[in-house]
Amino acid sequence: MTGTGGSQQFDSRLLDSARQLIQRLFGDRIPLAHVHSYGCQGNVSDGEKISGLLAQMGYGFTADPGRADLVIYNTCAIREHAEEKLFGNVGALKHAKRRNPDMVIGLCGCMMQQPAVAEKIKKSYPYVDLVFGTHALQNLPQNLCELLQGRQQGKKRVFDTDEQKNIIYEGIPTRREGSLKAWVPIMYGCDNFCSYCVVPLVRGREVSRQPADVLREIEQLVGQGYRDITLLGQNVNSYGKGLAEPCDFADLLQRICQIPGDFWIRFMTSHPKDITHKLIDTIAQNDKLCNHIHLPVQSGCDRVLREMNRHYDVEKYLSIVDYARQKIPAVSFTSDIIVGFPGEQYEEFLQTVDLIKKVRYDSLFTFIFSPRPGTRAAKMEDPVPAKEKSRWFGQLLEVQRQVGRQRYGELVGQTVRVLCEGPGKTGPGYMSGRDEHNMVVDFIGDSTLCGHFVTVEVDRVASWALVGHRVD
Ligand code: SAH
Ligand code: SF4
Ligand code: F3S
Repeated sequence: MTGTGGSQQFDSRLLDSARQLIQRLFGDRIPLAHVHSYGCQGNVSDGEKISGLLAQMGYGFTADPGRADLVIYNTCAIREHAEEKLFGNVGALKHAKRRNPDMVIGLCGCMMQQPAVAEKIKKSYPYVDLVFGTHALQNLPQNLCELLQGRQQGKKRVFDTDEQKNIIYEGIPTRREGSLKAWVPIMYGCDNFCSYCVVPLVRGREVSRQPADVLREIEQLVGQGYRDITLLGQNVNSYGKGLAEPCDFADLLQRICQIPGDFWIRFMTSHPKDITHKLIDTIAQNDKLCNHIHLPVQSGCDRVLREMNRHYDVEKYLSIVDYARQKIPAVSFTSDIIVGFPGEQYEEFLQTVDLIKKVRYDSLFTFIFSPRPGTRAAKMEDPVPAKEKSRWFGQLLEVQRQVGRQRYGELVGQTVRVLCEGPGKTGPGYMSGRDEHNMVVDFIGDSTLCGHFVTVEVDRVASWALVGHRVD
């Protein structure tokens, strides 16, 4: 393998021997894989690489885990609930494996990077055959071969969960889930250590892809007809740390916008502590950049933000929002909120409610605090009962429902540009797509519009979408 800085080229010759082995084992029959990713878009993007590797090795795909020769669950560790769901689904596979003992069950992703979880699987889930962490995705061909060959010699399981320095592997084949929308990671890992968050522990230190690699991938995607491309990173605003050539996130966007073609660029996630005026000006100047900023605030209380280790206060957050609204009149914001951080008082929670009313988000992703092993917040006193937190949570949802309804209401009579994706839920004769703010818009039209941008005047707001008619 050749290395350039923090990245290496994936050695695709490894796939040849894997393909031969699969062919020998399955003969004329195409083995089926079921790959499911939990968690964030970064994980979904990893899942597309896992599927890409498997496709190159000769696997076909099925949506039904019960019919699969190989099931891979790509896991998420962000909240306890995510973990419980995974264990439930793994438990269900026990029966499928009883019916088909040759089935391979693989678990990978963030949960597997937690030593206690890997240990639990080793001990209590003997029917799980293959376990690999976030640093070992590129080893899938060898690991799967080792398992399949080892089975013939009585060796049953393969674990590859060592924590390693993040190295970016370029050129891993990708089997994308859509043909219009694509995820493009621009960086991996996280250095921010928010006190509640497990991501830095399971994803390792932050590393940025070389600008040339990102640009090449986007050029190819645009050439293949992709029109809605989302750049991914836990904090895209700190892109570029450690690169040989100086290139910050705004520079990268500027270069991406030079790629010819009619396409949209989105990005997530923007950390408020690192967002710059330069970035906001760049969004304002480029039509290809969607006027939408996902800017998770987490809390509207300065004391809680300090405890969360977020490195900004409410005043700074609101000043970013103000600056963006001045420069980009059409800008919209979405956010993540944590309710019930350890020690949060009701009055402090109300400050979050207040902030939501001030910013007027399009939508929110809201979570009740979940203690994560190994994080600082998991050790903090947490006296507020779960029932009380649920009540606050309900209150927050209601406030956002009202704010959202108002925001959508303001769009009636306006025209929006929409990328047509497929049939709409409004009824027969309706197509659907999203606008630059990621809002679902249904409009009268037919399937010939799929993959095209259309201009729609919004007539009304339904619970599932904005509904309108084409004016282009
Ligand atoms: N890197 C992104 C967030 C990634 S995780 C950022 O900094 O904004 C997505 C969201 O999950 C977070 O924004 C936070 O709101 C939520 N989250 C993370 N850890 C959590 C925990 N322990 N309990 C509840 N919510 C959590
Ligand atoms: Fe977690 Fe904070 Fe990193 Fe986001 S920035 S992934 S919340 S540690
Ligand atoms: Fe979950 Fe890992 Fe993403 S913990 S949110 S899948 S980085």
